[in-house]
Amino acid sequence: EKAGYKHFMAKEIAEQPVVLADALKHYVADDGNSALQALDFSGVDRLTLVACGTAHYACHVAKYWFESLAGLPCDIDIASEFRYREPPLSDKGWALFVSQSGETADTLAALRYARDKVAKVLSVVNVPTSSIARESDLALPILAGVEVGVASTKAFTCQLAVLALMALKAGRDRGRLTAEEHATHIADFRLLPGLMNHALSLAPEIEKLAEQLAEAQDVLFLGRGQMYPLALEGALKLKEISYIHAEGYASGELKHGPIALIDSRVPVIVLAPRDHLFEKTVSNMQEVMARHGKVLLMSDAAGVTEAGAGCWRTLTLPKVPDVFAPILYAIPAQLLAYHTAIAKGTDVDQPRNLAKSVTVE
Ligand code: F6R
Repeated sequence: EKAGYKHFMAKEIAEQPVVLADALKHYVADDGNSALQALDFSGVDRLTLVACGTAHYACHVAKYWFESLAGLPCDIDIASEFRYREPPLSDKGWALFVSQSGETADTLAALRYARDKVAKVLSVVNVPTSSIARESDLALPILAGVEVGVASTKAFTCQLAVLALMALKAGRDRGRLTAEEHATHIADFRLLPGLMNHALSLAPEIEKLAEQLAEAQDVLFLGRGQMYPLALEGALKLKEISYIHAEGYASGELKHGPIALIDSRVPVIVLAPRDHLFEKTVSNMQEVMARHGKVLLMSDAAGVTEAGAGCWRTLTLPKVPDVFAPILYAIPAQLLAYHTAIAKGTDVDQPRNLAKSVTVE
């Protein structure tokens, strides 16, 4: 069942290039026509995305995409807060629920709260027969295949894939993207499986980093813009399977408090492709180094060349089209958590206190 891998998590991390390509094939035909054709975002005034845990971080990335690619006002929330907060919703708005299992109690309750308050209820699920799928007006499958490892990996990147394709469709419908721009993004998307294979090939290097990370008491993850939710996801993955205390922060928030935690024992993992925000993140990274923090910079070759000096460690990822960087950078974050847990000898597939599907609130 593990197909030669030591753990389901390792197998599921390795499957990502293939399942992502399958999802793309399902949603975008060779002639560019999309299975999302039936969704018309032009009259939607607000999109509300609700989920828990890793699925919520997928929504958080998607907010950046829907806003920048489609100019669509977007709210995100965690389901356990959303369901009791009595949030006002627009009857011209859509609500979107993201869940691997489709059975998460809080997410299902949030869906039921929203159902008669919005124009359309959508879900992005891995289990098409699940409660959340059945109670949505339209359920979009992520086609990740069964995910056994308790820590979500391939479901996260497949959720991101479907959400990115939705944001691109919204961009067309709302006149934000020309047909040409849309086609360019889709062509860029097709590069992802190859880039993900490249990222997977960095496993031996990541394993060495993980052996050192396993000594840490506390780890910080930093990211800016659409990499901020990846910092949150990287920290969640590390804490849930290695039991090392980890926190994700928006790079720009560092000086508003968390920088007080920095000393020579705290590794700070910076997720920063060489994009238009890179310089800003580098200056936050320098603030960490000035306080003797141990920076692990994950970037592409240009970023590592420009800002790698003085870092504790660097990891060079392939250059990726800007929009899709969160999908690629999920892989080193997952591998780092996995190998750190292995170095610590924890049970990666079945971490303590956690259940795969949280059907109680
Ligand atoms: C983290 C993880 C959880 C789930 C969360 C939502 O690795 O797996 O945070 O993402 O419990 O579960 P679903 O997606 O089934 O609603």
